[in-house]
Amino acid sequence: MIELRQTALEILLITDAQTKVGRVNQLFEVYQLGEVVVDPEALLDDQGLELPGRPQKPELIPPLQVPKRKMDTLEGRASLLHALAHIEFNAINLALDAIWRFGQMPEQYYLDWLRVAKEEAYHFSLVNEYIASLGFAYGHFQAHNSLWEMVERTQDAIIARMALVPRTMEARGLDAVPMIRDRFKQVKDTRAVEILEIILHDEIGHVGIGNYWFNYLCDQQQLSAITTYKELARQYRAPKLKPPFNMDARRQAGFSDEELSLL
Ligand SMILES: [Fe+2]
Ligand SMILES: [Fe+2]
Repeated sequence: MIELRQTALEILLITDAQTKVGRVNQLFEVYQLGEVVVDPEALLDDQGLELPGRPQKPELIPPLQVPKRKMDTLEGRASLLHALAHIEFNAINLALDAIWRFGQMPEQYYLDWLRVAKEEAYHFSLVNEYIASLGFAYGHFQAHNSLWEMVERTQDAIIARMALVPRTMEARGLDAVPMIRDRFKQVKDTRAVEILEIILHDEIGHVGIGNYWFNYLCDQQQLSAITTYKELARQYRAPKLKPPFNMDARRQAGFSDEELSLL
């Protein structure tokens, strides 16, 4: 038997992307064989550890320094896919971090994030293999790190993590992916379109998991989901939500009518 939270921390520390993906897949298989236990009481800490484990490249730059990507060159399209690969790499890390860092949650919480980790590993592989087929590799371009920065900013409180990572940052992905998909559609890149459809479908589930556990924590502390979200967004300096919003996907991901009407 292996313990899920300890193992998630170990995998989070792995620097090589392929090795990390392989270990996530292996962990999920072992879980399906019934050989994983969850210890919500385990006291783990990251003192002296540098999180997340990541390869030396890509070089990280501030979001505003990311060059505009042109769809009329192979390099431009590859760099857009590379940005996506980096987001998926960080998404593997954020799922693993949600598992090891926060104790005292119901077992289902940890299993939900294990599923997210496995799906993010799949997304990373899809994008990475496609980039490779175009003659590029993960690490070739620069990348920005805003997703992981929000993970770091919310490491002191699980309610802030659920509010601001899945149901803010990943939910922004629900809005953004259809637009990116349409840019690839215009240049008739059917493989990229296929990959983006898979990602969009799975991400609805990830935001849904964030919504479920955010609402669970609000109920437990008798807090209003709406005012709590507003306060957390201010306190943790969440990015402002900007239209267009993917209302359908957001509804499927479990945002309430009231939340949708406030967008
Ligand atoms: Fe993903
Ligand atoms: Fe995700």
